[in-house]
Amino acid sequence: MNKEIIESWNNELSNSTPHEIIGFFLNKFPDTIALSTSLGLEDQVLTEIVASVNKKARIFTLDTGRLFPETYDLIDRTCRKYDITIDVYFPNTEDIEEMVNSKGINLFYDSIENRKLCCHLRKLVPLARAMDGLDGWITGLRKDQSVTRTDMQLIEWDENNNMLKINPLINWTERDVIDYIEARSIPNNPLHKKGFASIGCQPCTRAIEPDEDIRAGRWWWEDPDTKECGLHQK
Ligand code: ADX
Ligand code: SF4
Repeated sequence: MNKEIIESWNNELSNSTPHEIIGFFLNKFPDTIALSTSLGLEDQVLTEIVASVNKKARIFTLDTGRLFPETYDLIDRTCRKYDITIDVYFPNTEDIEEMVNSKGINLFYDSIENRKLCCHLRKLVPLARAMDGLDGWITGLRKDQSVTRTDMQLIEWDENNNMLKINPLINWTERDVIDYIEARSIPNNPLHKKGFASIGCQPCTRAIEPDEDIRAGRWWWEDPDTKECGLHQK
């Protein structure tokens, strides 16, 4: 895909709603654009929009094997409410057995290297399978989530995966997301009300205090600028 096309889409869609943006891409690439959901608040907004545009559009999630029980429950509730399917991708069993048996079940606390290995095997390897045959993926990234995300664009060329990356909520604030969820009674993770602002795997996510950054509870033992699991690293 050439850079001019991406730039022209970014200009053309800069004032469009997420609904219009998703409609535009699902129409242009009917079977080869998928929403990647972690079941977080942003992804629940996007799921509701994707389902309203086309219930058959592909939505997938990466089940690392270490998610919260509440997240599994939310997968089920979301599929029932919107009458959709969320494809679930699992890591390779042998890779995980080898990693855990050689480095320990909670290896991620020991070093950044271990944490990245775990994210690689539990998220990135299955992501590559989920992406097979796609022209692009839709994510719930927002600029103000993190210092690592301030330069992200609405539509990007994803060099790592060689496809389009569409971030319809890139300029939304946390307030915009919560208001949208509440106005439409969109199902969401009950852990949010217990102080879990951003939710990933259970052992790598904690609740935050009201004055803390929204991603402070993710890999809280690491520096803010290393806190990407690799899904969105350039
Ligand atoms: S992470 O890289 O720190 O884990 P974050 O939780 O902020 O990412 O989510 C950002 C976006 O990445 C989500 O909106 C979603 O599109 C994608 N994503 C994150 N985790 C998953 C997952 N387990 N399965 C599918 N997509 C995910
Ligand atoms: Fe492993 Fe934690 Fe990464 Fe989940 S977030 S894949 S448990 S290191």
